Amino acid sequence: MDAQLPVVLVTGANGQLGRELLAARVDGLRLVGVDRTTCDIADPAAVMRTFTQHRPALVINAAAYTAVDRAESEPALAQAGNADGPRHLAQACETAGIPVFHVSTDYVFDGTKDSPWLVDDVTAPLGVYGASKLAGERHVRETCRQHLVVRTSWVFGEHGNNFVRTMVRLAATRDALRVVADQRGGPTWTGDLARELLALARRHLRGEALPWGTWHYVGQPATTWCEFARVIIAEAHAAGLIARTVPVDPITTADYPTPARRPANSVLDMAGTCAALHISQPDWRDGLRTVLARWRDDGVRFDS
Ligand SMILES: NC(=O)c1ccc[n+]([C@@H]2O[C@H](COP(=O)([O-])OP(=O)(O)OC[C@H]3O[C@@H](n4cnc5c(N)ncnc54)[C@H](OP(=O)(O)O)[C@@H]3O)[C@@H](O)[C@H]2O)c1
Repeated sequence: MDAQLPVVLVTGANGQLGRELLAARVDGLRLVGVDRTTCDIADPAAVMRTFTQHRPALVINAAAYTAVDRAESEPALAQAGNADGPRHLAQACETAGIPVFHVSTDYVFDGTKDSPWLVDDVTAPLGVYGASKLAGERHVRETCRQHLVVRTSWVFGEHGNNFVRTMVRLAATRDALRVVADQRGGPTWTGDLARELLALARRHLRGEALPWGTWHYVGQPATTWCEFARVIIAEAHAAGLIARTVPVDPITTADYPTPARRPANSVLDMAGTCAALHISQPDWRDGLRTVLARWRDDGVRFDS
């Protein structure tokens, strides 16, 4: 019976977002995940084989080269995963007459605006990763008519390495932390993003006309890495994950040099998206508490 349900193909099945998507149960569709070993999206033949095997009714692309700093010295790999891969998927989707939901990033912007970035604001990535993601967005827009390009930011979840996991681990093992306080953005829980992407997939598969185009999906309220770290540590302590809290001292971007430059303001405006897609903006603090509670219940250790 399940075999007759429309297949939603999720690429990047082993990533933070991919794993969250595939853990969901959604009525009326069947989720099929493919990882790099079964479908390297940079390889057009692998994409073709995957389409022939699974005959998807919709594709969610959660695969990406996400090593922002390493991308500076591996531009070809970033291009393959973030630009060529989405192009291959978009071509296969267009040929099959199905939509692609493609996830992109706040790093397509240069961060110089002093208010939240609108969907149509001028893009100007500061590094190789952002440039490769922007190229991927363009390929998807130009290649597949039925597309949602969904930009998100500061992604965290239960699975994989992310800022939340790093802060809890450091708080468990150090007496004080120093965290950048002059970059602003919107933390986004994979659980919220996955739920919304799947709800949109279901709406499409039930015949609703979605407004194809480029949209934003990010948590609120906007914050800085330093403030985010303080909330993480307070909540991790409240959840019983760490025995004590530790102070988090603000530093500047200049105090913490990295190979890739990051946008100072990468807050994405979501008002237009909420109105067009009839969705609401999530509060990342709820997602944070959920992730911390799951780690506690699973007995995840942070002190070693
Ligand atoms: N993480 C963030 O803070 C953040 C912020 C803004 C936007 N985003 C976007 O959100 C989306 C999901 O990110 P995430 O945090 O879930 O990333 P992630 O945890 O790094 O997962 C990405 C997955 O894609 C796989 N992958 C890479 N290249 C591939 C290829 N050529 N073919 C097939 N699979 C490939 C990776 O496999 P390997 O492990 O084998 O490389 C990994 O499992 C991405 O589009 C990312 O650009 C993320």
